[in-house]
Amino acid sequence: MIEEAREMEQVKEMEHRIENTKALTLAIESSCDETSAAVVEGLRTVRSNVVSSQIATHVTYGGVVPEIASRMHIEAIHHVVERALAEADTTLDAIDFLSVTQGPGLVGALLVGVSYAKGLAIATGKDIVGVNHMKGHIASNYITHPHLKPPYIALVVSGGHSYIMDVIDYDHMEKLGETRDDAMGEAYDKVARVLGFGYPGGSALEKHALEGSPTIDFPRVYLEKGSLDFSFSGLKTAVINHINTEKMKGHSLNSPDIARSFQDSIIEVVRDKTMDALHRRGRKIIAISGGVSANTALRKALEEVASKEGVEVYVPARGYISDNAAMIGAAAQIEYALHGPSDLRFTADPNMKL
Ligand code: KG4
Ligand code: ZN
Repeated sequence: MIEEAREMEQVKEMEHRIENTKALTLAIESSCDETSAAVVEGLRTVRSNVVSSQIATHVTYGGVVPEIASRMHIEAIHHVVERALAEADTTLDAIDFLSVTQGPGLVGALLVGVSYAKGLAIATGKDIVGVNHMKGHIASNYITHPHLKPPYIALVVSGGHSYIMDVIDYDHMEKLGETRDDAMGEAYDKVARVLGFGYPGGSALEKHALEGSPTIDFPRVYLEKGSLDFSFSGLKTAVINHINTEKMKGHSLNSPDIARSFQDSIIEVVRDKTMDALHRRGRKIIAISGGVSANTALRKALEEVASKEGVEVYVPARGYISDNAAMIGAAAQIEYALHGPSDLRFTADPNMKL
């Protein structure tokens, strides 16, 4: 009992420290194809968030070309940082500490941000914090929802990763499930590609699905009983097989129906596993983040079941869904308030785990 009370006291003290920090961080993100810099005050106040997207260049190749991404980050990073400081109406002198995405991501792309930020840290003598990109996605909801605080279930679904996390307090989270093959966004992108929707195909597929009906019964893959892991590659293969069979039969493809059937299948599984996690942990809040949280059907599917149980569902505001430095700054505030700066010897970690 005394032990429990002491723990409660510690959590309260930690919450207080994080909620009340007014530190200014200059955050940098360069893990994939967006060069971004932001000035973030405390956990929730974004003073600026500048994103320079390379997507138009990579579209030509049907995916992100790592070598081109690194080069474009080098070209953009200094201007993006200067703009972020100007838009925040501040200068480097006023910044309390620097923060940068350490991983996961493309190694060459990450190295541009990490090297630049470390250079600034050495030149100015300021502290620096290396941030896990996925913790950044999770933190994007703190920016959007001023009252959101742990505990809650985080569903983090992007182009490279898919996780169900139990966010126990600001400093502790437990992984309850993750994908064993493709990420959710990756499955969307691959199916969109075979349907000829271009790259990245997630949002295009969602739009086409709106015009279709769920006429095809694609598999719902739940894995072993009780597992909260995902496997999306079987569904992707089923869609490709269906398309090939239809083509062989000389049938014309009903792309909206295929898109809708795929989307219903993947969302149903993700919804069920997220609710399962929520029930097991007795939580009352679900916070979705990562690029796929832009998907309205996913949000609605979760809201529909959650609202019946008085459970709230949060998604980040528009500007904080896809990769951006503001979310990195928010996650860095937690890290810095609780654990202080990173050792300057830290380096890019392309496979950094949550
Ligand atoms: O988080 P993010 O911007 O980058 C990574 O860290 O991966 O996520 C990008 C992913 C892509 O796979 C993209 O197709 C997917 O998010 N995405 C969507 C939607 N908007 C973006 N997937 C499904 N429906 C959407 N509306
Ligand atoms: Zn991301």
